[in-house]
Amino acid sequence: MGFNRRFPKYRRMATIPRAVRFAMRTSRLHASTIREMLKVTQQPDVISFGGGLPAPELFPAEAIGEVTREVMAGVGPAALQYSVTEGIPEMRGWVAQRISKRFGIDIEPEEVLITNGSQQGLDILGKIFIDPGDHVVLENPSYHGAIQAFDSYQARYLTVDTDEDGMVPESLEQVLAHADALPKFVYLVPNFQNPTGRTLAHARRERIVRICEHFGVPLIEDDPYGELQFEGKPAPSLIAHDSDAPIIYSGTGSKIVAPGMRVAWLVMRDQEVMERLVLSKQAVDLHTGTFAQYVFAAFVTGGTALDDHIATIRRVYGDRRAHMHDCLREYMPADVHFNRPNGGMFLWATVERPGFDTEELLKVAAREKVMFVPGVSFYPHRDVHNGMRLNFSNAGEDDIRHGIERLAHAVRELTGPRPR
Ligand SMILES: Cc1ncc(COP(=O)(O)O)c(C=O)c1O
Repeated sequence: MGFNRRFPKYRRMATIPRAVRFAMRTSRLHASTIREMLKVTQQPDVISFGGGLPAPELFPAEAIGEVTREVMAGVGPAALQYSVTEGIPEMRGWVAQRISKRFGIDIEPEEVLITNGSQQGLDILGKIFIDPGDHVVLENPSYHGAIQAFDSYQARYLTVDTDEDGMVPESLEQVLAHADALPKFVYLVPNFQNPTGRTLAHARRERIVRICEHFGVPLIEDDPYGELQFEGKPAPSLIAHDSDAPIIYSGTGSKIVAPGMRVAWLVMRDQEVMERLVLSKQAVDLHTGTFAQYVFAAFVTGGTALDDHIATIRRVYGDRRAHMHDCLREYMPADVHFNRPNGGMFLWATVERPGFDTEELLKVAAREKVMFVPGVSFYPHRDVHNGMRLNFSNAGEDDIRHGIERLAHAVRELTGPRPR
């Protein structure tokens, strides 16, 4: 029996206009261009440089299948049971060990919180630090997912200039010195940044830590791409510096193993920050999936499987990056500028013509069946329009060539031909 017949006295309510009152914090949430675009790119003849996806053909699927069976035979029910919010000891121990080794520091398992993707880490950091209207400091441009996460806590943004060497310390100092209220934190992606592929220069790192320490502002170092370095030596991590202001390091298994597992970690020495984060996470999901954590831990601690896999993706992504760069040189008009990052998954291009808008370009490109992410999504104030993020990890060499050729065609269609 329908609701109206069972409860006649409520029938009248059906005619009252529906006025659902959502929380203010949802008012700035709009569909991510990137996630929306992923839907279009499901079509088979579209070449996408849009999503930040790892190469699926390289996923260590077989090895993950094997360790899954081992986990079920070994720990069995524990992998299916509720667990502690901080993460299973196997994961926390592995993260502490790997971070300590990579950065030459001493991190204890108690300083590690396992999260459901590093996106959750950003969300709970927003939750513990940001009151509506609070300022946070971001690179300009910055990771779009971080802007989305902080938007839901009604943050306001102060932006710091960046150049080919990442965040400019003098600009950070100016921003902090002139802020009317002290910002809640500084967030940056120091290695092969999303969206620009740029890396914070070695010489700037300690300086940025000291500036944050001087102003007493926590620093969030988001590092999903640090292990995907194709050439050169890694610069020291920010968390490797001693500082009186908290430094919170964010790492993830998404780019080095598989994003579908949603296993990531926050690392910090500050136990007060850790306690707040644990309580916030508890309120959200109690804990990261036990099953995924056990399987992930078994894979990464099983001999050389992880390092072998990272070596493979470094080699393949490095080749794809080189190929995309060559194709851009071959096909693009001279006023399209682009970089050649030595790691990560993205290359950044700008069209140096007054008024050029890559959102308009995307419409033409979509007709040409090639996708990318317009740069405006990465600017917290949405005020720069001539950039585009090109992902090179998720397309084979033929697709890269055809896709860049199509994209160059779209640029010319929009601007008229110009000699190189
Ligand atoms: C800079 C940065 N941070 C965080 C994430 C989120 O990664 P995940 O939630 O899969 O760990 C991404 C994903 O692309 C990223 O580029």
